[in-house]
Amino acid sequence: MTAINLGAPLSWRNAEGCSLEMLKNLQGNILKGHGRSHVACVFIGFGDPRQARHLLRTLAERFVTSALSQLRSSDARRKGCATDGDFCHIALSLSGYEAINCQAPAGLDYMGRLRVGPDYAEHAAGTTEINDVPSEWEQAFRDPDNPIHALILAAAPDACSRGSLTRRLIDLVHDNGARVLHIQHGQQLRNRRGSAIEHFGYADSISQPLMLQEDIDALAGDYRRTLWEPAAPLNTVLVQDPWAPERVRSTCFGSYLVFRKLEQNVRSFKEREFELADNLGLHGDDRERAGALVMGRFKDGTPVTLSSRAWSDRHDADKINDFDYEQDYAGTRCPRHAHIRKMNPRDGRMDRLVRRGIPYEDKMRLLPPDETPLAGNTRDFQRRVAPLLPERDVGLLFMAYNSSLETQFRRFQHEWGNDPFKPRGQPGIDPIIGSLDPDMIRAPVNRLARNTSYPGMPQDIFLQWNSNAAVALNCEFSGHVTMKGGEYFFSPSLPFLTDLIE
Ligand code: HEM
Repeated sequence: MTAINLGAPLSWRNAEGCSLEMLKNLQGNILKGHGRSHVACVFIGFGDPRQARHLLRTLAERFVTSALSQLRSSDARRKGCATDGDFCHIALSLSGYEAINCQAPAGLDYMGRLRVGPDYAEHAAGTTEINDVPSEWEQAFRDPDNPIHALILAAAPDACSRGSLTRRLIDLVHDNGARVLHIQHGQQLRNRRGSAIEHFGYADSISQPLMLQEDIDALAGDYRRTLWEPAAPLNTVLVQDPWAPERVRSTCFGSYLVFRKLEQNVRSFKEREFELADNLGLHGDDRERAGALVMGRFKDGTPVTLSSRAWSDRHDADKINDFDYEQDYAGTRCPRHAHIRKMNPRDGRMDRLVRRGIPYEDKMRLLPPDETPLAGNTRDFQRRVAPLLPERDVGLLFMAYNSSLETQFRRFQHEWGNDPFKPRGQPGIDPIIGSLDPDMIRAPVNRLARNTSYPGMPQDIFLQWNSNAAVALNCEFSGHVTMKGGEYFFSPSLPFLTDLIE
């Protein structure tokens, strides 16, 4: 049998031998998103270890979708032969492995020790190494008496089928002596053009590492790969499952999954976006650029490094991904701190992050994100628009698969997003996800320093697009996204789960 080449993408249609076995043994959603619009994240705590093992085995046998069956069924749907069915995925936390008396994969130990739990009390500063403040998280994510052992990701094409799938899962969990600690719903948002968007109204999930040859080949014609190569090797996400049964271990892989509930204060974000447009002296259609300078793309997806205005006449702006920043080194078109530039400077750096997030709406919004009325001036914005925008209860269920939490998620979030000095110089923190060390913000002496010489918060923006004539200083943009809780998991191979004995 031919060996699996982890250093390259994989053609799933041509997969045979070990590669085909690998796709049968791997859980879905890792190599490619499951694509369902409705999700329930069911967080559970195990009881007796023997019952927990039985539960995991039954879930794997009856519910979990393999990578191969996910790909085959979405192919059938595309050809019109089938509709999307239910989808299930299981991931175990560090304490989850401990609860079934199994050693956790090494990477979980690394991140797991940083999060809230027994170690939290010992953490004098009350913050984690990546500037999270667990004391401010939702109770379900920081209860040392009820640690989250596993996440069941249940996805379906509509709310009704998600409901019945979740009910069946809950029954099974209870029948096996485990508890449902929390259920978090997520739901895909779309704009009028049909693009997937997040709550600030921007097209999301455009730039993803592509690990399947079929997805890479589909980027023909307009979506060339001359400046940016979206193809990524399988080892961007896959690591061998260390505890899969020995007889099949060479074809058993898993992935580290990060889950973060990120609340979005849409009102404060839009307010700041409005002020920024004023400060930059933008008028008419140009005002949209303020947000694009923060995100790196206009709402429709147009990269701001390519254009000073959204390509509203192009229906496919949410697919444009063949660009880099070589002609924009100084950031006169796309600031070097803009979210997508911080997260991917497209400079040959090889680190990639596979995102599988979905928005949530714990309380229904008054208006969908792309129906925010236009305001004439700040007073009009405050009076007429702001009250319609949510300050809490909506956001993103950020999920990302990694082959290494340390060199992927941790690096993206902390070494780049939270670091005002990266990339080279002083671009400021990431305006969407960046946060400074809370102790530094709390300490009065540092607060003072922040407003004067400490370059942590204020990002600078060139006043004119594509010109370095003048710079608007201290365009402080941050604090509109708050971490409400999360956990680190490992999504094991199917044979690991089905081989668990009581
Ligand atoms: C509420 C929080 C967040 C919002 C609203 C948000 C929004 C967005 C949007 C609108 C895009 C552009 C779409 C695209 O290029 O695919 C994007 C891209 C991206 N985001 Fe985020 N994001 C959030 C959190 C995060 C976090 C926590 C990380 C990582 C730690 C992250 C990493 C990335 C990456 C890697 C890209 C792709 C950049 C590229 O390849 O050009 N995002 N995000």
